[in-house]
Amino acid sequence: MYYQLYYKLTAGAYDLLDFVYFRNPGKSPRKAVVSCIGKKESVLDICCGTGANAIKIAKERPDAKVVGADISKEMLAVAKEKRRKAGAPNLKFYHMDATKTEFKDACFDKISMALVLHEMPEELAGRVICELKRLLKDNGELIITEWEPSKIRWQKLLFLPIHLMEPKSYRILLKKDLNAYFKTFGLEIVETKHCDYTKVLRIRKVKSDER
Ligand SMILES: C[S@@+](CC[C@H](N)C(=O)[O-])C[C@H]1O[C@@H](n2cnc3c(N)ncnc32)[C@H](O)[C@@H]1O
Repeated sequence: MYYQLYYKLTAGAYDLLDFVYFRNPGKSPRKAVVSCIGKKESVLDICCGTGANAIKIAKERPDAKVVGADISKEMLAVAKEKRRKAGAPNLKFYHMDATKTEFKDACFDKISMALVLHEMPEELAGRVICELKRLLKDNGELIITEWEPSKIRWQKLLFLPIHLMEPKSYRILLKKDLNAYFKTFGLEIVETKHCDYTKVLRIRKVKSDER
């Protein structure tokens, strides 16, 4: 509830985040996410916010079918305006709750969720991950972007506002053994890409006959 009000009030300024933290295209998590997407895949960007990942994927993978979904109408309004300017006919946005989307079972090759997990209390995060697993095809992959505090001194300073402002769930997630965590959902981390202030995890759905 607190976050819904937060994103309602900050939607117009949200993209400053990319301007401040993800300026270096070579080390941007946005680029790392796109590199995980194949040419003709069906892709969901869940909790897409102002559409940074969804729009980049749709532009750089014009043959992919891309969907962005978010619970905040204000964030979606910014995303739709950006899509209009970018011109991305292969991208649709939907107003949806990530815990109970209206998509069919096993309909996406890839699902991206960026900078979201650390904001969710354990129980809510668990419900979202279960829902995303339902939506993934058998060989599908979840692509999670999460904060990773930098060891470089000046980056540490610039990251301080994020480090101080994020909720308790952020600190809990930082300490978590993510391999073990995702395993409990029948998911397996297959690659970690280290980017500016973040890491991008490629997480595979383990088929029931493999367990
Ligand atoms: C930190 S922003 C991340 C936005 C975007 N993924 C990015 O990388 O910039 C978190 C987003 O999650 C959305 N969100 C939070 N809970 C949600 C839920 N239950 N269902 C859908 N979206 C949700 C918020 O509205 C917000 O737009």
